[in-house]
Amino acid sequence: MSLTTKFTEVFGVEHPIAQGGMQWVGRAELVAAVANAGALGFLTALTQPTPADLANEIAKTRDLTDKPFGVNLTILPAINPPPYDEYRQVIVDAGIKIVETAGSNPAPHLPMFHDNGIKVLHKCTSVRHAVKAQSLGVDGISIDGFECAGHPGEDDIPGLVLIPAAAAQIEIPMIASGGFADARGLVAALALGADGINMGSRFMCTVESCIHQNVKEAIVAGDERGTELIFRPLRNTARVASNTVSREVVDILDKGGQFPDVQELVAGVRGRKVFENGDVEAGIWSVGTSMGLINDIPTCGELVSRIVGEAEDIITGRLGGMVEDDDEENVA
Ligand SMILES: Cc1cc2nc3c(=O)[nH]c(=O)nc-3n(C[C@H](O)[C@H](O)[C@H](O)COP(=O)(O)O)c2cc1C
Repeated sequence: MSLTTKFTEVFGVEHPIAQGGMQWVGRAELVAAVANAGALGFLTALTQPTPADLANEIAKTRDLTDKPFGVNLTILPAINPPPYDEYRQVIVDAGIKIVETAGSNPAPHLPMFHDNGIKVLHKCTSVRHAVKAQSLGVDGISIDGFECAGHPGEDDIPGLVLIPAAAAQIEIPMIASGGFADARGLVAALALGADGINMGSRFMCTVESCIHQNVKEAIVAGDERGTELIFRPLRNTARVASNTVSREVVDILDKGGQFPDVQELVAGVRGRKVFENGDVEAGIWSVGTSMGLINDIPTCGELVSRIVGEAEDIITGRLGGMVEDDDEENVA
């Protein structure tokens, strides 16, 4: 048995599960393992220092899988923005067929992607942005709730309300993101009106994710309270692991500090060290509240088949068993 949804049909994947872009984490080994498991993995374009490196990473992923995978292009405002157009050109030239956009309005990138037969899954954190992206012509929506790792936006609407509110207005395939880690989440997302789920933290904590074992063990040991929301006063909120660095950042900004006062603490190079050296106190690193649902470090294959298998059991077993046929009862 398998779960077929609008998302699996339009994006051509076996299972209604995606692994969204993750800075420093979304590399070839993980993305290929997700693809081989029948789910949809995304390389993170900006993890690669140059567009040429992205081309190499795409080639490396192709050596590891012949299943479909995509590339995440995160478009964030920056003083010195990366060469987005060059990364986009590499994606097109490499023959990638699915792109996950995130961070801001995907409009400038859509014509080129669509002209080259690339489907765009746009990730956003509010119903209004999802509706706007749908009207721009994206092919799918990934709606990221307040629970998520990374940038949850400023509205603070968790998935239980965000997903059905978005589903009421979204006609194209829509997957639910933020806080998903197991079969119960997948079934809940489908019940709330989504066509699948996107997971970051859960895939970060798998055998094939190329981050230090200490980080994976910290996620397993952590619980749902183990995150901080940094940059709230700057209205650029990010959910990250709670550690001495993130708590100091919260403290400085709460006391009226400005970005330059925390710039050194939040430097990307420090966060990268966490993943490379395994010192979970070395800097800022993203993880979501789904940490409270992550209790092991499986392979991607084990994880995806467990989620899909258990989801089918929940739907046909536990939930199916709750439905009583009144007519049959009367006949009996
Ligand atoms: C370590 C890490 C890095 C991330 N980096 C990015 C990124 O560069 N671009 C992006 O669109 N989302 C990024 N995300 C967000 C994920 O793609 C996904 O939306 C989020 O993790 C979903 O919430 P979950 O962790 O509860 O599953 C990141 C998440 C993690 C855990």
